[in-house]
Amino acid sequence: MNTYSVALIGGDGIGPEILREGKKVMDAAAEVAGITWKWKEYPYGADHWLATRKGFPTLVTEEEMAELGQYDAVYFGAIGDPRVPDSANQAGFLLWMRFYFDQYINLRPAKLYRGVDSPLAGKKPHDINIYFIRENSEDFYIGLGGRFKGTRSSEELEMKRALCTARFKLDISLEPGDEMGYQIGAMSGRNAERTIRYGFELARKKRLTRVTVLHKANVLTKIYGLWVERATEVAKNYPDIELDFAIVDAATMWIVKRPEYFQVIVAPNMFGDILSDLAASTIGGLGFAPGGNINPDRKAGVSMFEPISGSAPKYKGLNKVNPIAQILAGKLMLEHLGEDRAAELVEQATEDVLAAGKVRTYDIGGKSTCSEMGDAVAERLLRLKA
Ligand code: IPM
Ligand code: MG
Repeated sequence: MNTYSVALIGGDGIGPEILREGKKVMDAAAEVAGITWKWKEYPYGADHWLATRKGFPTLVTEEEMAELGQYDAVYFGAIGDPRVPDSANQAGFLLWMRFYFDQYINLRPAKLYRGVDSPLAGKKPHDINIYFIRENSEDFYIGLGGRFKGTRSSEELEMKRALCTARFKLDISLEPGDEMGYQIGAMSGRNAERTIRYGFELARKKRLTRVTVLHKANVLTKIYGLWVERATEVAKNYPDIELDFAIVDAATMWIVKRPEYFQVIVAPNMFGDILSDLAASTIGGLGFAPGGNINPDRKAGVSMFEPISGSAPKYKGLNKVNPIAQILAGKLMLEHLGEDRAAELVEQATEDVLAAGKVRTYDIGGKSTCSEMGDAVAERLLRLKA
């Protein structure tokens, strides 16, 4: 019997309540598929931080972060609370975790399940089934940038130097008293390559025939030029899979007009952040959108599984929101651990409940609670055969 140790972090807002439902379903999956979980709960989140100020200015200390690395996976609810600055919980925990454990893949599948209506007209179940892969460690998320006031300071000169490669003659000297902010995106060839390779490997595993690589290399020629070049090289090793390039603005339109075209999408970090929310909206919204922050090499770094929604503070404690995204994040966790059969069962139970339509949370026009949805999926799962 396989045993897995998993750190549970409910976090803020709706995080703890949806994670409770996710865990309930994971416990049912363990029973059906014959696996054992060793859960350990961590209190990280706004209340803990405000009470202890441990880890200030970040949400956790480096020792606490390192400790998470000892688990087989981290199952995560959400963080984000108006009482805590974003720099502490978003940059100082969520993004830090992604970087610290080199979770360079952010897998955000968008699948339209039976019983859920797409806001797009005429879409049938499974018409939309996109493996959306967001590059998770570089691009505009590297945190390199600054702000300065319009004096003839050395910073201004530095900025001018940074812009000296601009094709057009720009006068960027500032009016006295005006201010400038800048932020730099960067991508290493190694990172581009490993991310795109993951996309092709996933396509092969799922028997898919096309990988769409998003970019904006027509304008941001340096960073995405490299990305496109590496994609072309990687694709040579997969002659059975079509490499499809799409410029990000056009792709945004096509995801709305013809989402069924897309099988695997690989996107740089920031485009991926934006378009994975769009993809989620096509399949019923963020309540159905899980995310895996993955280091494919389990020995090199722990992976973390979360809904992509955020903490939705106004719904906190109401037992109202849809826990499906959290449950499906658990499915991604099972797949990452190599428990493919258990993962399939979780998905099947989820879809059976949605298709039956008796238990529906508010976001899909029902009155069921968060825990009723968790109960329904767990009960259905216990009736499925492994
Ligand atoms: C996400 C979120 C985060 C991101 C924020 C909260 C830092 O939007 O997971 O998509 O930008 O990656
Ligand atoms: Mg986002």
